[in-house]
Amino acid sequence: MCGIVGYIGKQPAVPVLMDGLEKLSYRGYDSAGIAVMEEHHHINVRKAKGKLENLRSLLVKSPVAGCMGIGHTRWATHGEPNDLNAHPHTDVQGGIAVVHNGIIENHEALRRYLTAQGAVFVSQTDTEVIAHLLKYLYCGDMKETLLKALPMLEGSYALGVICDAESDALYCARNDSPLVVAWEDGNGYLASDIPALLAHTRDVIFLEDKQIARLDANGIAVCDAYGNPCYHEPFHVEWDLDCAEKGGYAHYMLKEIHEQPEALQKTYAPRRPHLPGEYRWLPVSLSEAQSLRKISIVACGSAYHAGVVGKYAIERLARLPVEVDIASEYRYRDPVIGPQELFVAISQSGETADTLAALREAKRRGARVLVICNVVGSTMTREAGESNTLYTYAGPEIAVASTKAYMTQTEMMLMLAIALGDLRGTLSRSRVEELLKGLEQLPVLAEKTLQAEEMLQRFASLASQKKHVFFVGRGMDYALSMEAALKLKEVSYIFSEAYAAGELKHGPIALLKPGRLVVATITQSGLLEKTLSNLREVTARGASVLAICRESLAQKLEGIAQQIIAIPDTDDWLAPLLAVIPLQLFAYSMAVVRGCDVDKPRNLAKSVTVE
Ligand code: M6R
Repeated sequence: MCGIVGYIGKQPAVPVLMDGLEKLSYRGYDSAGIAVMEEHHHINVRKAKGKLENLRSLLVKSPVAGCMGIGHTRWATHGEPNDLNAHPHTDVQGGIAVVHNGIIENHEALRRYLTAQGAVFVSQTDTEVIAHLLKYLYCGDMKETLLKALPMLEGSYALGVICDAESDALYCARNDSPLVVAWEDGNGYLASDIPALLAHTRDVIFLEDKQIARLDANGIAVCDAYGNPCYHEPFHVEWDLDCAEKGGYAHYMLKEIHEQPEALQKTYAPRRPHLPGEYRWLPVSLSEAQSLRKISIVACGSAYHAGVVGKYAIERLARLPVEVDIASEYRYRDPVIGPQELFVAISQSGETADTLAALREAKRRGARVLVICNVVGSTMTREAGESNTLYTYAGPEIAVASTKAYMTQTEMMLMLAIALGDLRGTLSRSRVEELLKGLEQLPVLAEKTLQAEEMLQRFASLASQKKHVFFVGRGMDYALSMEAALKLKEVSYIFSEAYAAGELKHGPIALLKPGRLVVATITQSGLLEKTLSNLREVTARGASVLAICRESLAQKLEGIAQQIIAIPDTDDWLAPLLAVIPLQLFAYSMAVVRGCDVDKPRNLAKSVTVE
């Protein structure tokens, strides 16, 4: 999704802006641009459709220079990706330039009004209205102008603004779209995401909704929607740029798949109980856990699939009904939330607009909320409050396709199920100990599972021309199959669909014929025979099977599967955390063989901040 950067200081702005945009490019974009305040208070804009390389070439042909500017990578929402629709946008005279993330919902009404006042629009974007509106309202002070203009904007925005009448200040503001600012050694920075700032500083300030910041040679001044000054303690970012670099791997996705053993360890280790029944990390008391009646889990994409694993685990281990909803559906279905219920939002970024809206809806209805999130300080964690947040310590996830974040979300789900099962007395002490021991051993087993990489590469080179792939499984393996199908379709563009293995015969089997590939996950020992029968139905139609199964079950697959990938044996409930690794490696290898842009798949964005 779109990325914003801004700089004011002592250095040439262009390299700082371009480096920041590069760091944000993982979010997905289709055009980019910068606006720089040149000498004599003149704003120069350069924008180009496509990759940042195009903007770089343009800047070589037509350079700009100055020590203040704003930049943007655009992921098209209003108007096709082209040079005109790329940001920054300016007013007619080019004296005010704006970059924007989010959507202005009342842009059509504003466009009509401003056109009647003489504004001439050149793009199809919603953002352009902001530049014209600021010009129309400009009163000689951009902060005062923003205080007047922002209440007129309906929707979400993170804004960066420069103005030729105030060539010594950079402005920004946010509402429902993330924005961080920082000041270091006389240089001021703004960005929509932390990686853009890490080359310059580790101390950042997260702006709150409806706040405005002015950055100049003296530092950062933040105010609220009424102009009252606000103070923010800077947040120190613990991870550094290396965590967000490829570190010798061909792609971020592959690096992040390989980081999963460590991520599993980091998420579990700080929560390992030192005494039986001690779950200090869980923001649910013993009496609350015992009186809970229902859990609602809400998320999108891979995080939703982690929630589906959570449903299976929590219902069985803690004997609690669990509803799992896709966030964009939850919000509008008038959900029933009662007392003694827990609402759980899962999100890697903590910024996903649909999940955030569902969280707000649940809070509005008085629900007790819990957020499971990877990004420290993100909007969801702030809205739920630190005491209602469980961080997955996966580290920065750069590839658009989620791997290590999904892994740790799923691990969190299992930890929640075990803790609730223990507190509610639905699990025996010895069973709890067994499961906790299993969690402890997971990182080593995950490391071992990664050894399947070569075998999957070979299989992918044979299967890469497939046009359709089915993923099947039962129970938790079905939840896993949904994630595997999403992974394959998003990175390799192969049409893939997940089915509960027992559901094949109710329709999808009509699509099976020689040449079709079915990827089966078999980790649940109690469901083995049933799944084997379903796979025999598959091979009887001439389709081939790639089986991901536990070592101890592998023999049973011989004669059925064309290729068997065995994962180390562990508890049934923990096995999906290992089985997902070959499924991720399969999707990755297929995408590489097919020459796809693995880390930045077409049309996708890392953090989906529009509904
Ligand atoms: O940041 P979030 O976890 O809220 O993101 C949710 C989805 O957008 C995300 O999982 C998406 O489906 C990924 N591309 C999956 O690989």
